[in-house]
Amino acid sequence: MSHDLNRGFSTRAIHEGRGFAGSTGAVMPPVYLTSTFASGNADGFDYTRSGNPNFRLLEETVASLEGTAFSVCFSSGMAAITAVVSTLKTGDLVLAEENVYGCTYRLFDKVFSKFGVRVEYCDLSEPANWARITEARPALVWIESPTNPLLKLIDIGGVSRVAAEAGSAVVADNTFASPFLQRPAELGATLSLSSATKYLNGHSDCLGGTVSTNDPAWREKLLFAQKALGLNPSPFDAWLITRGVRTLPLRMERHCSNALEIAAWLESLPVVKSVRYPFLPSHPQHDLARKQMRGGSGIVTAEFDFSAERCIEFCRSLRLFTLAESLGGVESLVCHPATMTHASVPRAVRLAVGLGDGIVRFSVGTENCADLKNDILQAAEKNFSF
Ligand SMILES: Cc1ncc(COP(=O)(O)O)c(C=O)c1O
Repeated sequence: MSHDLNRGFSTRAIHEGRGFAGSTGAVMPPVYLTSTFASGNADGFDYTRSGNPNFRLLEETVASLEGTAFSVCFSSGMAAITAVVSTLKTGDLVLAEENVYGCTYRLFDKVFSKFGVRVEYCDLSEPANWARITEARPALVWIESPTNPLLKLIDIGGVSRVAAEAGSAVVADNTFASPFLQRPAELGATLSLSSATKYLNGHSDCLGGTVSTNDPAWREKLLFAQKALGLNPSPFDAWLITRGVRTLPLRMERHCSNALEIAAWLESLPVVKSVRYPFLPSHPQHDLARKQMRGGSGIVTAEFDFSAERCIEFCRSLRLFTLAESLGGVESLVCHPATMTHASVPRAVRLAVGLGDGIVRFSVGTENCADLKNDILQAAEKNFSF
């Protein structure tokens, strides 16, 4: 695939891969709802599990936005993660950031461990711990930046340099940033992985995943996993994500400005113990955020000095933020990670990485910001004593 990188990001988000119109003049691509293709067709399609025009369009668009030569799409973020890990063999080691997404942890712990894939966790936001990469020479170094839900940042360029010297591939889960704000492959990561369910799609109406890379050998391995494990999305979901991507730059700008305003305002509320947001000066890695991200994204994590039950009640009292799993849609959501996204992580492990019961994660949408702040205020006044 070759992309016209002279064009700006917003132009590529809308125009990349548009060879679908044929003689029809259609401005939007059709959904190719077909399980199979006539043998010998000029575009080389055979069966939708191993490729479909809607996948190709999505893959070309995402590769262009990630600044990579290739991208491969999957049915969910977890399917994308499964595809990457399925390339390992018994005895291989994954050195993972200790605050990975709960279901990534569960996949390593409950599924791939049965096949002898070893996973070791450490705090990769701390450069002193990168020595472990050099020492252990893992098959994969697994990072997420910002992490879910603590919004820790990993220096993607720094980790990638050390990993390259050790001969290890780096997988960067870019879900929380999206390629509009951060492009891991340009910083040196081997693979940039996204749950397309979140910002790429942006409308909370389907699931998907992508893995982008410059390495043709990795592309082959990922395409093999897509077809051999049946990890392909549906053509309609690929279409929905491609449609969502067209407004990614607009949405991300609004997510960033709303989230920054809410994060700064939350810091001034006496009832809030601490606030994490990469573009707040109080974030311990604020300089790194400014270096590797174009904006802080739409997630704000706040810690309250109250019990899990009280925090859940607070979340339930919100009217514009729906208490729900997921993030990255235009509508605001709120989540209590200890009992939701990270419930599969044992309590002791959770607490050790700083994920306490008082932590609430806001996925700030693109609504009117004053309305969102008023909503948080009314729920806080109802549930927390000021
Ligand atoms: C950082 C991160 N990676 C991966 C996933 C998994 O994505 P999906 O839910 O699309 O399978 C999620 C889901 O929340 C996530 O937050």
